[in-house]
Amino acid sequence: MAHASAPKPLTAHKTGPLTGQITVPGDKSISHRSLMFGALAVGRTTVEGLLESEDVMATANAMRAVGATIEKTAAGSYTVDGIGLGSLLEPEGVIDFGNAGTGVRLTMGIFGTHDIAATFIGDASLSKRPMGRVLDPLREMGTTVVARSGDRLPASIRGAKQALPLTYRVPVPSAQVKSALLLAGLNAPGITTVIEPVPTRDHTEKMLKGFGAEIDVSVNDAGERVIRLTGQPELKPQDIIVPGDPSSAAFALVAALIVPGSDVTIQNVLLNEHRTGLITTLLEMGGDIEIVDRRVSGGEDIGDLRVRASKLTGITVPASRAPSMIDEYPVLAIAAAFAEGETHMTGLEELRVKESDRLAAVARGLEANGIPCVEGEDTLTVTGGVAAIGGGTVTTHLDHRIAMAFLVLGMAADKPVTVDDGAVIDTSFPTFAPLFNQLGARIAQSESEAA
Ligand code: S3P
Repeated sequence: MAHASAPKPLTAHKTGPLTGQITVPGDKSISHRSLMFGALAVGRTTVEGLLESEDVMATANAMRAVGATIEKTAAGSYTVDGIGLGSLLEPEGVIDFGNAGTGVRLTMGIFGTHDIAATFIGDASLSKRPMGRVLDPLREMGTTVVARSGDRLPASIRGAKQALPLTYRVPVPSAQVKSALLLAGLNAPGITTVIEPVPTRDHTEKMLKGFGAEIDVSVNDAGERVIRLTGQPELKPQDIIVPGDPSSAAFALVAALIVPGSDVTIQNVLLNEHRTGLITTLLEMGGDIEIVDRRVSGGEDIGDLRVRASKLTGITVPASRAPSMIDEYPVLAIAAAFAEGETHMTGLEELRVKESDRLAAVARGLEANGIPCVEGEDTLTVTGGVAAIGGGTVTTHLDHRIAMAFLVLGMAADKPVTVDDGAVIDTSFPTFAPLFNQLGARIAQSESEAA
């Protein structure tokens, strides 16, 4: 399972211009959901462009464990023969989700209203992350839970025999919590209502509608999103094409902006409005990013991004933008290191409970490479344009995005940057190093290989 492999230090060296066209792997959020919803439908769902990473494969195994048949037919192409909502089988063994927060939280929602028992485990990172945000409302729907203190993994649940629909206001801006409860609501009679004071990525709502669920989204007088799902629909299989992950494209975007002379086109990137906060921010900083051929595919906005090296200027990134770029702050901090003046990021409290305490991990990584920064409780201020940066080794804490962000730093820093474990990148972007090296980067396992 995830990260059973030994740590693999990687080093990125300063490189000449990055040039060329790339396609990044499929979107992680949509990939998880394709397998889950396919498993809950009756009949055959097909998926093209699935992200073949450790996180998504953990979800595939979880869906197999309750009776779905998931088969690979070609690179990135899968068939999912669903078992049907309400018909899940009880898994025989423990379900190991490795590093995958989305996988385990959404699956807890699905299993939580099925009359089955299941035990979830994960790696050291996932075992530290809070599950109460999902388990507490599931308890209200009738799920029985036994978990480690603080509702951490390992956790066992016994799904409700007769689930109760719920009306729930999500207390933290989290698409995972919203989605887990909507998925729990699928097998509860009546209407489950999830209220979102702060909008987050809406893939669950959009995709469930595509699978035939009755789901209604409106905005109440207080300006909150109200999502009403009618329980016990018959989900119909779909043919899904997964667009490129904007959270993976983020690394190429920033790398091309900060490596002088670069000109890179990233094809087929998901441009859902709840995922484009980084593009908005980099444009405000002066980044030369062109959206070419914006189009709609499978109900989602997608496009190609042409990005050229640019002179960046520090800005204040508003807290209200955080949900639309929540996974992008580590690499934004790297862009900030090359911007003139200070970049001030606010509203970052959720970064504390990601695959690592990302706020602290980013700050320590910047400091290790001579980049001045101030870490507040939920803010980060980075001073850009400082001379002679790089040369540090960054602790990744089993966090793929920390590893990738600091390798991007190494592509443009004066001195090489090493991350203590590049193996964690397989969580979301297994082709990261070869893809960047194809553009001209020099990422290698040891300095001698890259020289
Ligand atoms: C995700 C939601 C976000 C994000 C994660 C994927 C999803 O997590 O960080 O990578 O697919 O729903 P939170 O809901 O915890 O913010």
